Amino acid sequence: MENQPRMDVESLRAKLAEHGQEHLLEFWHDLDADQKVALYRDIESTDVAELVGHFKTAMESSSDTEKVDSLMEPTPSEFFGSMTKAGKEKEKWYREGLLEISKGNCCVLLLAGGQGTRLGVKYPKGMYNVGLLSEKTLYQLQAERILRAQQLAYDMYRQRGTIPWYIMTSEHTKEPTEEFFRQHNYFGLQKENVVMFEQNMLPCLSFDGKILLDQKSKISRAPDGNGGLYRALGNCRILEDMERRNIKYVHVYGVDNILVKMADPWFIGFCRSKGANCGAKVVAKAFPTEPVGVVCRVNGKNQVVEYSEITLKTAEKRDEEGHLIFSAGNICNHFFTTDFLKDLVGRYEKQLRHHVAKKKIPYIDNSGNRIIPEKPNGVKMEKFVFDVFQFSNKFAVFEVLREDEFSPLKNSNTAEKDNPTTSRHALLSLHHRWVLNAGGRFVEKDGTPIPAIPRVRTPPRGSGKVSENVQSRRANDVDDYPVVCEVSPLLSYAGEGLQEICDKKQFCSPVLLSETDQMESKESVIGTN
Ligand code: UD1
Repeated sequence: MENQPRMDVESLRAKLAEHGQEHLLEFWHDLDADQKVALYRDIESTDVAELVGHFKTAMESSSDTEKVDSLMEPTPSEFFGSMTKAGKEKEKWYREGLLEISKGNCCVLLLAGGQGTRLGVKYPKGMYNVGLLSEKTLYQLQAERILRAQQLAYDMYRQRGTIPWYIMTSEHTKEPTEEFFRQHNYFGLQKENVVMFEQNMLPCLSFDGKILLDQKSKISRAPDGNGGLYRALGNCRILEDMERRNIKYVHVYGVDNILVKMADPWFIGFCRSKGANCGAKVVAKAFPTEPVGVVCRVNGKNQVVEYSEITLKTAEKRDEEGHLIFSAGNICNHFFTTDFLKDLVGRYEKQLRHHVAKKKIPYIDNSGNRIIPEKPNGVKMEKFVFDVFQFSNKFAVFEVLREDEFSPLKNSNTAEKDNPTTSRHALLSLHHRWVLNAGGRFVEKDGTPIPAIPRVRTPPRGSGKVSENVQSRRANDVDDYPVVCEVSPLLSYAGEGLQEICDKKQFCSPVLLSETDQMESKESVIGTN
């Protein structure tokens, strides 16, 4: 191996012993020369003292759930805005947001470093195709929404602003994501406007604080949570890149929400109107135990209490009218000014605490065997992206309609919820409503009108109708969703611009409306042929 370091194994052993971690060298004598160098480097690059300190604090505060609960209160209403309850100001927010986009002041930042364990695919989640007619992946939908937002801003202000796309990856997702974008020619975006960077990895520990080995020569590591963003923004010089491009507003989002609005002009305009330096989009929680964090205040500070850290008693609290008191469901969709991000990276990042997640972590046992555990055996330590809300003195919360903006892909189709089928249905339902709003109607092949609120045909469980292998889905497959209607993001960002194509037209499912197919057809029934 080149550049062999001078290895002082005994002093490394002594250093590890100070923190109860000498077991990391247990198999030293079994290793060949290259493996020894690899392990030595792996350990040396780890600040063991700091890690052990973080572990202790994280474990202590993870048992504080009851205490946090007692300090929780809802965010005061003056910080709230609502997409559904707003009147005229909605148009104003939209115009302001598009103005900022047209000036090139906005970017989007994707959190894509998660391992996607629940979905259970080996590739990054953004590459997933939920089985739309177009076969578009989450990444492609997002890319095309960026292109459309740029176009809308240009159409309104005749000024072409670019929305750079920053993508935070991790060791697991970096290479496949880069390769996927290259293969797809950046989905029509310019390569220099898609900036990928990598978050840090942290060692995993057993419940009693011992660092786990993944191999005899390798520490077990996991991404440091989506709050690893702030460290990565500094380390990878992303803030500098943003400054160079004169970016003022950063729209941060999670990879898995198929309905995500990229550089949402309403959200940006709303946050600007509040003078906010930090904002969170929320949806009303569907039920008390829904696995979404709650945007609220704890001890007077803005915070999200994560679904894993709230007690059932608090989650179920209702007001006199029966509404959930803590109903502001976090959808991992945030607004930041670059000035605030600069403060975070420079001053506050180190103050963010780690949260612990109990997981099944493969490890090398005392006898040197690699064990794949069947129940949780250790913890991953993660920072959370929203833990910086506490540092904002100008915080805003924007409530949006779930049906329009939130349907996350978390699980495989074996789960009831948040799976490829529910994501696909959410998108089809939204686009169906767009077409109806634009004056279109849907008919059966024989011309019978389909009611505006059709019933979902649920396939019997295990019927195999909803194929796990969505990659092989054919565009004309019969879907269990009664009206299969998909609108290309290049044609419409949020339902706009469809009037001309849809008004007084009849459509026969499946329908794919795209920008090239401007539907100039004069025929009265459009769809299956
Ligand atoms: C997240 C939110 C939760 C919210 C829910 C909505 C956090 C900490 N929690 O929960 O409050 O209600 O989404 O869907 O934000 N990621 C990284 N690096 C990591 C870990 C995750 O980039 O180390 C990314 C993921 O790729 C994903 C996003 O962060 O895009 C959210 O992560 P995920 O694990 O899906 O979070 P949830 O537990 O679902």
